[in-house]
Amino acid sequence: MEVVIAPAGDLARLAAASIEALLTEHPRSVLGLATGSSPLKVYDELARRHKDGLSFAHARAFMLDEYVGLPADHPERYRNVIEREIASRVDFAPGAVQGPDGNAEDLERACADYEAAIAATGGVDLQLLGIGTDGHIAFNEPGSSLASRTRIKTLTRQTREDNARFFGGAVGDVPRHCLTQGLATIMSAKHLVLLATGRAKAEAVHQLVEGPISAMWPATIMQMHPHATVLVDDAAASRLQ
Ligand code: F6R
Repeated sequence: MEVVIAPAGDLARLAAASIEALLTEHPRSVLGLATGSSPLKVYDELARRHKDGLSFAHARAFMLDEYVGLPADHPERYRNVIEREIASRVDFAPGAVQGPDGNAEDLERACADYEAAIAATGGVDLQLLGIGTDGHIAFNEPGSSLASRTRIKTLTRQTREDNARFFGGAVGDVPRHCLTQGLATIMSAKHLVLLATGRAKAEAVHQLVEGPISAMWPATIMQMHPHATVLVDDAAASRLQ
């Protein structure tokens, strides 16, 4: 695991540069997209590079997760967030960006279909990740199976409180359930790039990098990945030895 400690703007540029290098060499690459605050500067940087010629026209992308039951036009539905923050700002082909369907009638089937769709592309080449204050990646909350695949999960109170800021501060409005890629799904990606900034992430980053591998800190599974890059600012790195 490679750990880079730098100011947030530099981290975003590093992540965007990795994506640009990948797409330049392999235009048909498969990207893994995260939502939340952590990747937003990366998406700004990618949109800027797109204006300078970086093309996503032959790429595909898969989202990490989705809330269950948010109305199709809800601004915080992750499909809409990804559309707003990155997909609409670059030149992905129609249908090239996919996410798990949190409004499917048969949610288990939707999860299995999503796994099959990822596998059919040959797998994700570069997966962007954030980390929850409780150590989750995607929405694999503490106690998640390290061998998990895309499935329905219940969000912890901590995650719902952390995400209430996107719902006008009302924790009761944050959905209780989600569909999320599993830890084994994420581990199948060829390169993992995790971003974390701010002191609130310091304990999770400490566990991720220095803790024992444990389902109670799900991100620690990344220690087993052959190509994982952890991009952190000084505050998020403040508990590293
Ligand atoms: C979002 C996701 C989550 C977030 C994590 C950190 O798709 O999978 O794991 O990356 O909750 O969220 P932020 O970046 O908002 O602190």
